[in-house]
Amino acid sequence: MIDRTKLTKRFKDYINHYDLKDPKIGLKASHSYRVAEIAEKVAKSIGLTGEDLDIAWAIGMLHDIGRFEQCRIYDTFIDSESVDHARFGCHILFGDSLKEAIRGGNEDIEIADYGKAGIREFIEDDKYDDLIHNAIYYHSDYRFPEDMDQRKKTFLQILRDADKVDILRVNVETPLEEVYNVSTKKLKSDQVTPKILENLFEKTATNRKYKETSVDNIVGHISFIFEIVYPESMRILKEQGYLYKLMAFESDNPVTNSQFDQIRKFVNDYLEEEK
Ligand SMILES: [Fe+2]
Repeated sequence: MIDRTKLTKRFKDYINHYDLKDPKIGLKASHSYRVAEIAEKVAKSIGLTGEDLDIAWAIGMLHDIGRFEQCRIYDTFIDSESVDHARFGCHILFGDSLKEAIRGGNEDIEIADYGKAGIREFIEDDKYDDLIHNAIYYHSDYRFPEDMDQRKKTFLQILRDADKVDILRVNVETPLEEVYNVSTKKLKSDQVTPKILENLFEKTATNRKYKETSVDNIVGHISFIFEIVYPESMRILKEQGYLYKLMAFESDNPVTNSQFDQIRKFVNDYLEEEK
């Protein structure tokens, strides 16, 4: 069984070692709780019950555990400049190779003692390890292996949905300059890269490798809607309304404003069809 009280307590202890007043850390803490909550709702909506709801919730709680040490060590959430935070989380929880997690950042890193926390400290029973590991490992990949067994895929998709739904909140509640690490001037003058716009009109999620400008990030987050798997996730996403706020972005650059006009029209039509 999964003891939610125990897991929550250990998680709180863990994040208390970081500066929760730092907006970056604070947002990852609240993100973890929110994703857990949304994941459980989505799991329920597809008919999962009992222990399966605990698993979905626990995966949500732990999925970004790698973010805290990533931020402490590299002072960034940009994986390509530091570590792949999903693999890094698997290193912390399951002892996966650290080398595999390193991306652009220095590989000569030392994880703080308080940053080490094996999965057994959160969940005594090891029977969920495979499911949890799989979901965390693949949660932020652009695409995941299609041949995964159905149960693993279900929990992974629940997590990916819940994560996307809540990232939209984070992007609206936190100043975009902070989220994307750019100056206001740049944010207000950049244009959307044509390939990124093309991705959106093809109804596919933005491929990170095409991202060039700060506003590409906004379009990337808007494009999340095309990847949402479960109707309940879509329902929560619409109900929250953050998507609409994100789309209301106003630039000082007329070209960008016209790009966003097109985006709003396209996305609103898409959401209409979805009903
Ligand atoms: Fe993540």
